[in-house]
Amino acid sequence: MSSNIAACLVPVTILVLFYLVLFPNNFTHLQSALAPCDGGTKNGIVVDVDTPPADDGVDFRMFFGIVTRADFYERRSLLRMAYALQPRPRRAVIDVRFVICSLEKEEDAVLVSLEIITHNDVLVLNCTENMNDGKTYEYFSSLPRLFPGAEAYDYAGKIDDDTYYRLDALADTLRTKARRDMWHGFLNPCHIDPEWQYMSGMGYIVSWDVAEWVAATPELRDDHEGMEDEAFGRWMRKGGKGRNKYGEEPRMYDYLDAGMRDGVNCFRHELVADTVAVHKLKDRHKWARTLRFFNATQGLKPSKMYHVDLTPKI
Ligand SMILES: *[C@@H]1O[C@H](CO)[C@@H](O)[C@H](O)[C@H]1NC(C)=O
Ligand SMILES: *[C@@H]1O[C@H](CO)[C@@H](O)[C@H](O)[C@H]1NC(C)=O
Repeated sequence: MSSNIAACLVPVTILVLFYLVLFPNNFTHLQSALAPCDGGTKNGIVVDVDTPPADDGVDFRMFFGIVTRADFYERRSLLRMAYALQPRPRRAVIDVRFVICSLEKEEDAVLVSLEIITHNDVLVLNCTENMNDGKTYEYFSSLPRLFPGAEAYDYAGKIDDDTYYRLDALADTLRTKARRDMWHGFLNPCHIDPEWQYMSGMGYIVSWDVAEWVAATPELRDDHEGMEDEAFGRWMRKGGKGRNKYGEEPRMYDYLDAGMRDGVNCFRHELVADTVAVHKLKDRHKWARTLRFFNATQGLKPSKMYHVDLTPKI
């Protein structure tokens, strides 16, 4: 570990001197450039060093946990790029992390270790994948233990690995919302009494006090009948939690495009510019169309090395 730090410090020191000489007033660039070396605990996975945040003040910090499986290497690699290429959210720190159960297979232990060394963005829980929904309990209850006291975040998200959030839009919508007893997502099922609605598993965010309450209520661990999001809804209702409940429909929705047989309904429509999150990105084609729509390919520079035709093919 210490040799890693030493190896890191030499180029960092040179970089610092270089910056101080060339750009004495531009510390934001310097901080962004340093982010990969600091262990990555507080800086999110932002690599967009060219667009410093409009304001250095931070309104809130979020642990954005994408719950996935150890062996979903391709999905993680796609999600990492997708989030790294987004513009940095204004005045918010959103730490994008991957949440997986214990690494039982030999190859996963080795290969996920390499990811951790490279990206430092993985949380490994003490659970097994077939542990029907003990995973939700394990996830939320681990957070206050892992980040106690001053390390606590304001919000914790539990995000599906087939959902794409636009973090800047998410930050803007949360900025004005409650910081306590808060529950944000897509209200499901659409047309029932709000009292019985819960947040769809596509992705939901709770305030940190809710994660603390889950951690302090071990009997929830055994209440996991039915779908995971339904069970979480039951916990919240029984505990009288999440009274500040915010449904983000129609800015959160399931993916739809003209090539699909499905039609528009209360939870599904075509991509829109002011999206907060789009769900059901089940294959590469849907990811590709979504990422192109949100201009993720915009950074592709002309080069003699390649010619890429990005127009949609029918
Ligand atoms: C898993 O268990 C080990 C040993 O009890 C503990 O050190 C570690 O913090 C736990 N991990 C999480 C994410 O809770
Ligand atoms: C993508 O970029 C184009 C060109 O700058 C712009 O007109 C369009 O609104 C952007 N799309 C979204 C979803 O932001």
